[in-house]
Amino acid sequence: MKYKIIDSKDLSFFKSILSENCVLTESEDLNTYSRDYTEDLQFLPSAVLVPSNAEQISSIMKYCHEHTITVTARGAGTGLSGGCLPVEAGVVLALHKLNKIIHIDENNFQAIVEPGVINEVFQEAVQALGLFYPPDPASKGSCTLGGNVAHSSGGPRCVKYGTTRDYVLNLEVVLAIGEIIQTGANVLKNSTGYNLTQLMVGSEGTLGIITKITLKLLSYPPYRTLMLASFASAKNACACVSKILSAGVTPSALEFMDKKGVEISTSKQNINFKFGDEKAYLLIEVDAFEIEDLLPQCEKIYNALDQMEVMNVLMAEDAETKEKFWKIRRSIGELVKQISIYKEEDTVVTRSYLPQLYEGVEYLSKQYGFETVCYGHAGDGNLHINILKNNLSDEFWQNELPKAIRKIFELCKQYGGTISGEHGIGLVQKQYLDVVFSPIHFELMKGIKKAFDPKSILNPKKIFDI
Ligand code: LAC
Ligand code: ZN
Repeated sequence: MKYKIIDSKDLSFFKSILSENCVLTESEDLNTYSRDYTEDLQFLPSAVLVPSNAEQISSIMKYCHEHTITVTARGAGTGLSGGCLPVEAGVVLALHKLNKIIHIDENNFQAIVEPGVINEVFQEAVQALGLFYPPDPASKGSCTLGGNVAHSSGGPRCVKYGTTRDYVLNLEVVLAIGEIIQTGANVLKNSTGYNLTQLMVGSEGTLGIITKITLKLLSYPPYRTLMLASFASAKNACACVSKILSAGVTPSALEFMDKKGVEISTSKQNINFKFGDEKAYLLIEVDAFEIEDLLPQCEKIYNALDQMEVMNVLMAEDAETKEKFWKIRRSIGELVKQISIYKEEDTVVTRSYLPQLYEGVEYLSKQYGFETVCYGHAGDGNLHINILKNNLSDEFWQNELPKAIRKIFELCKQYGGTISGEHGIGLVQKQYLDVVFSPIHFELMKGIKKAFDPKSILNPKKIFDI
């Protein structure tokens, strides 16, 4: 596809729609919007547009469609697959000004928000009313709900409560041609034609610009217990996950961390933590509406832990310890980044195959000679595998490592899984998509893309190449 290079006439148009200071072209600004949290990648946009509402976005899209200018939507830029990187330059649409919680409907357990609302701000706002919005990515303090919808983001609580996808009831979307549509209705059931809402969720900004989101809410369970279990073998920790769930309890978090991850996280944050001979941990939380419902859940978990030869179980008795355990877990990703360039793989398998996946990754890391840090949402069968570059050559990193990653993804497929559970495909995983998709999958998806975005101006070169 041949895209138009932005010139002064285009900038004048954008300035006529937005105020002058919402059209950014200074190199410092372009630099800021050229990166996200993915690896060490950088792509400079030609301009950054900061709209305030759907009508402005509609005018921008109509113009960009007419002139074949690429448009890449961006939330907080915390994505891990390069989804918001403007690989074809063009404009970045920075959505942080669309940050209103429009309405929290307590009667109907739903809320309407704009895409730039920060996940944690929203969680706190609904919690103040006794309501609950569970999806909680590690970056919840900075990531936006729009970005969460674009990737169907997850987080620790998804094992009990599901991912972002399970909470999206309806969307307002500006299409590539500039039309503004509702994808569905603000209802809990909907059997009215194709489900455009769910098609939009996880489409990574390639099908439209999300400008309003209707989210489902639950009641907030106020009681929780947190425990950290250590194991002499990572395989046993992984195997324990199925044991816990089969014991008739669904924890509100069931997270895996290997020892290296915990070492990095505690040492970088000066967190006091006593290590022994353990190789891996499970961080397990249960929640409840009544305090007396916690203990029976914990007892079932203890039984399962015992069966899998747990070494030690630390109960987080107070709020401070709870916070410390969660800080250790939630910070691993960003702290690994401080020690080396790395690649983040977001593998997911049918849950009971987690031990086999872990062993397979261990085997491949020895065979190819790379170091990994593994952690993630074990209860979902979702293992984040950070592959560290350390002193590996650029040659290895560019040419050999992709072969090993492909083998990891082949294992995922073999174990009933796929190549991303919650981070998306974006730019960096698209070279591996053929592991799980056949030509017919690509054909169907390209047909959908063409129907929504005939000139392929929305977030080009993401998920697959046209
Ligand atoms: C986490 C992010 C990397 O789970 O998804 O920490
Ligand atoms: Zn995660």
